Amino acid sequence: MAAECEAIGVVGGGQMGSGIAQLGLVHGLHVYLSDSDPEALARASKSISSSIQRLISKGNLSEAEGSAALQRLHCTSSLEEMNGCDVIIEAIVESEEVKKKLFVELDRIAKAPAILASNTSSISITRLASATKRPAQVIGMHFMNPPPVMKLVEIIRGVNTSDETFLATKALAERFGKTVICSQDYSGFIVNRILMPMINEAFYALFTGVATKEDIDTGMKLGTNHPMGPLELADFIGLDVCLSIMRVLHSGLGGSKYVPCPLLVQYVDAGQLGRKQGLGVYDYRKSPGPTKP
Ligand code: 3HC
Repeated sequence: MAAECEAIGVVGGGQMGSGIAQLGLVHGLHVYLSDSDPEALARASKSISSSIQRLISKGNLSEAEGSAALQRLHCTSSLEEMNGCDVIIEAIVESEEVKKKLFVELDRIAKAPAILASNTSSISITRLASATKRPAQVIGMHFMNPPPVMKLVEIIRGVNTSDETFLATKALAERFGKTVICSQDYSGFIVNRILMPMINEAFYALFTGVATKEDIDTGMKLGTNHPMGPLELADFIGLDVCLSIMRVLHSGLGGSKYVPCPLLVQYVDAGQLGRKQGLGVYDYRKSPGPTKP
């Protein structure tokens, strides 16, 4: 990668991709944002604009800085336009098969020194890297949701990730104002290895009738000072995302403690995916937050 990163690509215009794109923009980078769904891309562009407007109205950015940031945003339906990017960050659906196909494509398109990073929550970086001819330049760069607010980036080195790639990725995360932690390439890395079994256990507590959803969430919020209860957080992350991470933990690490709770599976089967759809453990269609009984 060039000494100084000037342009990044972000593939995927969901909550994570648009948040990562926003970080790049407000930290002076050109950002090429792509999504295969034109509506998702339009939503991402709108949400980035309104987020930047909020930063301006709060005085965190001047009008001039905000408008320059938005001018550096290039929304595109063609990955080919990312061929000048120094780093391309993938933030698409949590499926190894789909991500590998994308990495083959990105490897073909990206310039030779470019780094290919994955925002995967749990999938092996070594296996994603094996889909490319540049495994030394493939790395995990795992942002937390919402990326503009959360202070952490978890970096995961695959077996063949070079020191140069690691240092450049760390420098980029630090440029975004993040604290970096490093994980070995094991299922779920650090954060989701610990967070997801807690969320899954909250579903088991609800499933087995230990308490109401409200009491489970209030217990963890007030009892352990978490900003959100585990069920509310699961809705925020997406129940489909939580389930797929539990499945990766179960298949990668084995053992009964990672078996996804049947209630979580049922919600996903029913299409209740959480806040993004208006309905998860809680109903968001009438009120902005968890409903009271
Ligand atoms: N983009 C930019 N800024 C945002 C934002 C977004 N998407 N969402 C919230 N903000 C800002 C708000 O503007 C506000 O800024 P201000 O204090 O300067 O006015 C600040 O964040 C707080 O927002 P709110 O007042 O609206 O709401 P809360 O105080 O309730 O905070 C929260 C919202 C930050 C989401 C907080 O509830 C929280 O920290 N929840 C836990 C989130 C968490 O645990 N995330 C990690 C999940 S695990 C993960 O992501 C890994 C993955 O692999 C699954």
